[in-house]
Amino acid sequence: MKDPKNIIEYFLGKTVDYSIGELLQLEIESYLGWIVRGLPSFLGYFPRYLVYKLLFKKLDSFCFIQPNVFFSHTFRITCGKGLIVNSNTYFHALGGIEIGDNVLIGPNVVISSGEHGYKEGRKPVMWQKITPKKIIIERGVWLGANVVVMPGVIIAEGTIVGAGAIVTKSTKPFTIVAGVPAKKIGDR
Ligand SMILES: CC(C)(COP(=O)(O)OP(=O)(O)OC[C@H]1O[C@@H](n2cnc3c(N)ncnc32)[C@H](O)[C@@H]1OP(=O)(O)O)[C@@H](O)C(=O)NCCC(=O)NCCS
Repeated sequence: MKDPKNIIEYFLGKTVDYSIGELLQLEIESYLGWIVRGLPSFLGYFPRYLVYKLLFKKLDSFCFIQPNVFFSHTFRITCGKGLIVNSNTYFHALGGIEIGDNVLIGPNVVISSGEHGYKEGRKPVMWQKITPKKIIIERGVWLGANVVVMPGVIIAEGTIVGAGAIVTKSTKPFTIVAGVPAKKIGDR
């Protein structure tokens, strides 16, 4: 990747990774997200559902998204039925995010599907290539508060992820994992 001369050139350089349609969608999702994100609960659930039904690649049913949940690259998110997401959770779907049915996501969770490169010498990380890595969260998963799901991870069906865990590796179905890095602490 050619080194940008300044922050503006850096920002413009990033746009080449997207089609015109995707750039437009990124703008539209920013504005629509900003309008609905902070609306209070009962008044907020419905407009948030409508906006994300429109923006996501797929959203199979009504979902409860609490205030201040942030989504980026919504056109790369697919979601099954019955999603519940608590406040201040952050979804970055650069590499795609797939969510199965009946997934419960706690507050302050970070699900970010792009990995910054850092091995091109010592140049700033922000100038190095970002690798998209899809995250999959299968049916019936529960992510506790403050969980971080690393790029490329598959959270298998029925997994419970304890509060505060950093999930660096894919999990096995119906296990309970916790800690940093997340390790199995039990079965269901
Ligand atoms: C993972 C969880 C479900 C496990 O509950 P549990 O089965 O009752 O587990 P226990 O409390 O019996 O703990 C079992 C062991 O795991 C450890 N443990 C439990 N949760 C942990 C966590 N989040 N991080 C690290 N260790 C954890 C306990 O310290 C205990 O260790 P020990 O055997 O060495 O004493 C629960 O602790 C949890 O994190 N829930 C998430 C709550 C939350 O975030 N809610 C937000 C609303 S969606």
